[in-house]
Amino acid sequence: MGINIAVDGPAGAGKSTIAKLVAKEKGYIYVDTGAMYRGLAIHFLDQGIEPGDTDRIIDACRSAQVTIQYEEGVQQVYLNGKNITARLRDEEVGNMASKSSPIPQVRKKLLELQQGLAKEQDVIMDGRDIGTCVLPDADVKVYLTASVETRAKRRFDELTEKGVDCDLEEIKRDIAERDHRDMTRETAPLKQAEDAVLIDSSHMTIDEVVAAITALCR
Ligand code: DC
Repeated sequence: MGINIAVDGPAGAGKSTIAKLVAKEKGYIYVDTGAMYRGLAIHFLDQGIEPGDTDRIIDACRSAQVTIQYEEGVQQVYLNGKNITARLRDEEVGNMASKSSPIPQVRKKLLELQQGLAKEQDVIMDGRDIGTCVLPDADVKVYLTASVETRAKRRFDELTEKGVDCDLEEIKRDIAERDHRDMTRETAPLKQAEDAVLIDSSHMTIDEVVAAITALCR
């Protein structure tokens, strides 16, 4: 059994940036479970399925095989043998992932893969339900959050830097909507595990958050 660190929190809280840095510092494998939901979402989108078509999504789960490989320490997601990592961050993929992830059959499909990865190696795994459902016995649990305003501004700066034209108010609305969906769904909603340490990164630098989590892992 390896060391298991669970990091949960809402979209845009900086989970993946922080978890990658902690992984590097501690020599853990970083497991991005959102990327797995995004991988399945690509499968649904490629079949022309609408986000609201639950029956077709459940049916399509049967023909999807999501696997993970690490190439030079970086997680690569394969869908039915094809590397789809480059498409994971597309906006429509994030939307489909958010809308399909409440479906129990979708979650069941990925649970075993996630638990299997954590069994044999030291991992820091991020997502929405890691401390509450996937790794309830994790050695350290962190609930990483930030205000909607802070998260929207970070996303706005990131997109602007890439030359993408965007609107701060629209981003804010999207984030609030996604929070609501992730927190109110029936299966494995986003919530802080009772034994998780709450870190609000609204007024913290990346280095400060990494230091806070690394200190918990000693
Ligand atoms: O973290 P992310 O934005 O890449 O995740 C995409 C979607 O996947 C998110 O809106 C909710 C879902 N998700 C989930 O339900 N459970 C997880 N452990 C990780 C992600």
